[in-house]
Amino acid sequence: MATGAARRTGDPVIELTGARKTYRSGDIEFEALRGIDFGIQAGEYAAIMGPSGSGKSTLMNALGCLDTLTSGSYRLDGVDVEELRDDELAVIRNQKIGFVFQQFHLLPELTAWQNVALPLMYGRVPLAERRERAAVALTKVGLGDRLDNRPGELSGGQQQRVAVARALVTEPTMLLADEPTGNLDTTSTEEVLALFDELHAAGRTIVLITHEQEVGARAERIVWVRDGVIDRDEATRR
Ligand SMILES: Nc1ncnc2c1ncn2[C@@H]1O[C@H](COP(=O)(O)OP(=O)(O)OP(=O)(O)O)[C@@H](O)[C@H]1O
Ligand SMILES: [Mg+2]
Repeated sequence: MATGAARRTGDPVIELTGARKTYRSGDIEFEALRGIDFGIQAGEYAAIMGPSGSGKSTLMNALGCLDTLTSGSYRLDGVDVEELRDDELAVIRNQKIGFVFQQFHLLPELTAWQNVALPLMYGRVPLAERRERAAVALTKVGLGDRLDNRPGELSGGQQQRVAVARALVTEPTMLLADEPTGNLDTTSTEEVLALFDELHAAGRTIVLITHEQEVGARAERIVWVRDGVIDRDEATRR
């Protein structure tokens, strides 16, 4: 899993300038992002935090190329995302971002390695290579001995680690995690956060969205969002 880690530390991965997002329903408009400027560099581990309704999910959708901005610019790994058509956006999303969600979104009828190999189906990678790459990714998250288990046979923390392996198998530029520990007990939360620590140490770029202070404090930087603007941007003591 070299590509993401090999990107030079300090290269800009996220460059967001004057980002605004207005939701419209009928005659009613709501400005959920009201001018956000920030950057994330290769190798950074940042948490986005803020109260309910502050705009975290809206920001995550923009960063993840799941939704476009109303105005402003977003460069992801040097690509002007706002210029892209929907099909181009989907390609960029698959190449550059590994998503981890609160609900693990694993397919219950597939084994761990088959779940992890899924993103490789779109790239026409031959079966033997898909299996091999999935096995390597699962070994990196400490699940090399669980390749053939189905999600139902794994603990919550193990299932989320399978989801992290699936997010990394395509060698994305960054890992984007939305409340990745929201469904986990204390032990499993620690398991997943320890894995993120390891990935960060190996040079991965990680953006984590959370409302849990202890989880955010594990990142090296916390970007605080409030009422659609950045309220504070601070280094943690790590
Ligand atoms: N599709 C939509 N249409 C209209 N308003 C929306 C829409 N999606 C979000 N909003 C509004 O935008 C604001 C920001 O919402 P967002 O979901 O980004 O908040 P959040 O910080 O993720 O909150 P939470 O911590 O509760 O998940 C809220 O006031 C919300 O009501
Ligand atoms: Mg949200």
